[in-house]
Amino acid sequence: MDKTSEILQDSFGRQHNYLRISLTEKCNLRCTYCMPESGVILSPKTQLMSSAEVIEIASLFVKNGVNKIRLTGGEPLLRKDFGEILSALSAMPVELSVTTNAILIDRHIEIFKNCGLTSINVSLDTLDAAKFDAITKRNQFEKAFENIELLLQEGFKVKLNVVLMKDFNEDEIIPFVQYTQDKNVSVRFIEFMPFDGNSWDKSKLVSYAEVLAQVKAHYAEDTLVSLPHEENFTARNFKIKGYMGNFGIISTVTNPFCDSCNRIRLTANGKLKNCLFSTSETDLLSTYRAGEAIEPLIQQAIWKKKAVRSGMTHSSDFENLANHDNRSMITIGG
Ligand code: GTP
Ligand code: 5AD
Ligand code: SF4
Repeated sequence: MDKTSEILQDSFGRQHNYLRISLTEKCNLRCTYCMPESGVILSPKTQLMSSAEVIEIASLFVKNGVNKIRLTGGEPLLRKDFGEILSALSAMPVELSVTTNAILIDRHIEIFKNCGLTSINVSLDTLDAAKFDAITKRNQFEKAFENIELLLQEGFKVKLNVVLMKDFNEDEIIPFVQYTQDKNVSVRFIEFMPFDGNSWDKSKLVSYAEVLAQVKAHYAEDTLVSLPHEENFTARNFKIKGYMGNFGIISTVTNPFCDSCNRIRLTANGKLKNCLFSTSETDLLSTYRAGEAIEPLIQQAIWKKKAVRSGMTHSSDFENLANHDNRSMITIGG
């Protein structure tokens, strides 16, 4: 490893080569687990990273060893200069991807192709139009679903993110697994996580164990195949024998996967978060605008990263909302 890449290593020896950049705090949906009901106070435009700043700061991370960048939001495709940013990032030696709600995919598919994107993660919590309206407060199910099918037809590697919530969509676990039968898609069931303004309660959680119990009750034992972990995985993956696609479970709450964490986050207003649950942030943008070096700040922030969930190692700590002095998910980007 060369000297400069040391700034991306934490005190546990984890190397952070995956940067998630949130491009906007805005979204065209209103998912209740993500966007507080009262909305969010948006950062003034002058405090958001311009396209040039996103590109320059990203390039600095790349010089120091980042080789995977994911663009998130809010909804990243709402950014008017999305194409300009994607195109500049695609000239860097990185694996690029996007997490989106798919509503604007049809208008961006050519940009994706031109920039060599091959993999897209899509948030879709239900296969039922009425439930989609209830969770997103917008009636855009058909658009989202058509766009997912478009991505699949065009040969993109698609991961569907399904945030599970009790009495809302836990009855859709099997339909989603069924959807993988003849689609080359990865469905990822995600345990509902606490963030500012999302009224998290443990009773709303559908856990890793519950997902597997439903799957095991529905499919014969010898058809459920456990797949090897991806490197630096978030999901534990499975497939049903003979199905084209597969499914996974992201179990941050009941079974965290922090040991191999390689992820850091840059918010739309230029703050570095060393963990999804970090309560402190490092303001890179102000220092960058002042013309000063941001590498020392990055190094300090990453070195301070805690081993597990920003220090909430035990479930009792994690489930105590007093410990979650964090942003709302919409302003983090997942
Ligand atoms: P891949 O790069 O395809 O593995 O995707 P990803 O899982 O890194 O990203 P995506 O944006 O699709 O996120 C899916 C879910 O995983 C979201 O609910 C994220 O909040 C969650 N997630 C992503 N990265 C982390 C992480 O570092 N820690 C935790 N606890 N959850 C994460
Ligand atoms: N808990 C778990 N996952 C969430 N996401 C958004 N909010 C939450 C939450 N409270 C997921 C969405 C999106 C991804 C980036 O984060 O599924 O696809
Ligand atoms: Fe990494 Fe924090 Fe997520 Fe754990 S909770 S995997 S340390 S970002």
